[in-house]
Amino acid sequence: MPLQGTVKISGAKNAGLPILISSLLSEHPLQVSNIPHLQDVTTALDLLARLGATIELDESMSVKVNAATVSNFCAIYEIVETMRASILVLGPLLSRFGQAKVSMPGGCSIGSRPIDLHIKGLKAMGAEIELIDGYILATSKRLHGAHIFLDTVSVTGTENLMMAATLARGTTVIENAAQEPEVVDLANCLIGMGAQIEGAGTSKIYIEGVDSFHEHSHRIIADRIEAGTYLVAGAVTGGAVRLNGIQPENLVSILNKLNEAGAAINVGKDWVELNMNGSRPKGVDVRTAPFPGFPTDMQAQFLMMNCIASGHGSVNETIFENRFQHVEELRRMGASIRMSGSTALVRGVESLKGACVTATDLRASACLALAGLVAESTTVIEKIHHIDRGYHCIEEKLSQLGANISRIHDHSHRIRAVA
Ligand code: EPZ
Repeated sequence: MPLQGTVKISGAKNAGLPILISSLLSEHPLQVSNIPHLQDVTTALDLLARLGATIELDESMSVKVNAATVSNFCAIYEIVETMRASILVLGPLLSRFGQAKVSMPGGCSIGSRPIDLHIKGLKAMGAEIELIDGYILATSKRLHGAHIFLDTVSVTGTENLMMAATLARGTTVIENAAQEPEVVDLANCLIGMGAQIEGAGTSKIYIEGVDSFHEHSHRIIADRIEAGTYLVAGAVTGGAVRLNGIQPENLVSILNKLNEAGAAINVGKDWVELNMNGSRPKGVDVRTAPFPGFPTDMQAQFLMMNCIASGHGSVNETIFENRFQHVEELRRMGASIRMSGSTALVRGVESLKGACVTATDLRASACLALAGLVAESTTVIEKIHHIDRGYHCIEEKLSQLGANISRIHDHSHRIRAVA
């Protein structure tokens, strides 16, 4: 049934996490607003509290972090294994306190997720780093500026090194830097705190070290991946949806592909509208790439759209080596997908069949929820804790658009979606 209506987009998870962690650089409070209510944000706040920061939450999705009282420099395995982005405490702790002990994040379901570029960059800035018993032990006198070239475009690698450089002595240049809007949002927050940064959002970022920061308040940008997910929900159901509180300039590659799929798109300063006029989407070819290319975090959602589109489509994943676990689950719902290396070749079918499926990672679980909206009969998605890491109240927002989706309240971590 076509989704119709309006949803408000929440703050961006992948901007909120580094921004909350950047509070470690300062001995003055950092007020952060437009925080999304997500498991990963709760984990980040728990980590900051364990390091000794004080956290003041208020009801309007705003939090004040004061890291003046930080006295513990260890991010333990039990926390890091639940949230890889914990690795982002490494740069700030090392740069402000000269020491950090952070559990190696290990891999995750979508890939090995190395952190060699984080380590290499910090060493170039003067850090002594050892890997002992699964932990990164880092020490340094005051870090100094360096000219760093990232072999691979890495979002958290860029963010870790940019944060470390803000208190280093002298100038740091990060080349082949990630250009994601979340990197820009972090840089804008750091500049507001007193950092000297130029070039964020380009592949070359210049940071001039300062001695300390001052109090600052920052509002997190909207989540472009959450926005893209609800636009695809509108597209696959042939509906018409409007998203408020989103920056369309951060969605260009996604809107371009939806337009190719036959969607009528309108944008304003802080809103986006998609209208399928009741039609079925056309199959599209997608190739993931670092921003401004097509985001890997939208790959599963577009693969699902291709499954019910008219004609053929392809999805080529170039960032992570194992980000097609949703393919098997979609096949169980009747999708026609053939894998050729890192490319999924899809022949669109008239409809999918409801089934019991299992979520494997954050974005795959969203794609299965979308599949459940268009499949015949009922789809039950297991291991839905993945979705809660990145989507604030997904079933409420989809229900607001007319979807028949509900959480099964029997502690089984399942969501039921009915077309
Ligand atoms: C960020 O992960 C996001 N997470 C991911 O979102 C997103 O999928 C990814 O960027 C790509 O856009 C956060 O921002 C918290 P990477 P990140 O380091 O930074 C290689 C989600 O769904 N690499 O950019 O950890 C790596 O192997 C999550 O919200 C190295 O080789 O990813 C990969 O091929 C999933 N060495 C590529 O870079 C390194 O030291 C991108 O990884 C670091 C990375």
